Parts: sequence; structure tokens; C-alpha cells
Amino acid sequence: MSMHEITLIVNGKPQKLTVKSNELLLNVLRDKLFLTGAKYGCGIAECSACTVLKGDRSIMSCLVPAVAADGWEITTPEGLVVDGELNAVQEELVNKGAIQCGFCTPGMAMTGTACVRENPDADEAFVRDYMRGNYCRCTGYQAIVEAILAACEDAKNGKRV
Ligand code: FES
Ligand code: FES
Repeated sequence: MSMHEITLIVNGKPQKLTVKSNELLLNVLRDKLFLTGAKYGCGIAECSACTVLKGDRSIMSCLVPAVAADGWEITTPEGLVVDGELNAVQEELVNKGAIQCGFCTPGMAMTGTACVRENPDADEAFVRDYMRGNYCRCTGYQAIVEAILAACEDAKNGKRV
């Protein structure tokens, strides 16, 4: 198996890494950088538990070979927290009680953040469509949607997203 040197900017910090050709971005984040916020759910692009941001866009890190991510700017769920403060989406997920077992929550926070950044004027239909790839095994979707809509309002009032 050939090895490759790559550089990722993760949560604002450059990281030089040696990765195998078949190593996935999710595994590099979790096993090499010990950022375990992004979760392994299905491994086949069906659940979005593994979601991270590339720039401001949400991507499924279980689908990306780490070599293909060379030079990318990645934010993991840990990177949404600044100086111990949750971002608006994370905070509203807590406020709205939108967490049951919690396994999907990091992915919901990442895709929700991308949604609010892209369209803080989002209505319920927009949010539901944006979040359609994120699977909650506990089926608590209503509170999740309400949390993202609340975060849109927070963003318009100047809260960090
Ligand atoms: S673990 Fe990546 S989509 Fe399910
Ligand atoms: S809260 Fe359990 S999977 Fe969503």
C-alpha cells in the first residue's frame, strides 16, 4: 500500500499527515487527529453522521479518500466551538431538546451550520430539504428543524454560526 504526505487545515490548524491510499478522511480525523466528533454511522453515504465542513459546505467524510483532501480546509464538530462557546446551531439543538441518543447530533450540527450560513432566511421547507441526507435513528426531526430555524434567527441577530 503506497503512502502519501498530505496537509489539511483542520479547525484552523495546519496538519501534516502520512496516509495510506485507501484511508478515509473520517478515519484520519478520528484516529490520527483524535477528533472524534464526526461519527461513523453507515460508511456508505446514507446517514451523514460523518459530516464535516469543507469551507462552508457540508461533506460526508466517510466517502472522501484522505489523499483527495490534500490542501482542504476542514471544520469538524469540535471546530464549531470557539473559546468554549457553542455556535448558534449547537446551542439551539440543546435549547430545543433536539438530542435523544445524540449519535446523529454532530452531523446535524454540521449540516445545520452549512444551512444557516448559506441561507439565514431559510424557511421550514428549505431546512427540511437541506437536512434530508441526515438520518436520525431516534426520529426526532421536528425539534432539529425548529433548532435550525431558531439558529437562523440567532444568526440574523449577530450570533456566531
Ligand atoms: S457514515 Fe458517512 S454517511 Fe453514514
Ligand atoms: S438523536 Fe439518536 S440518532 Fe438522532
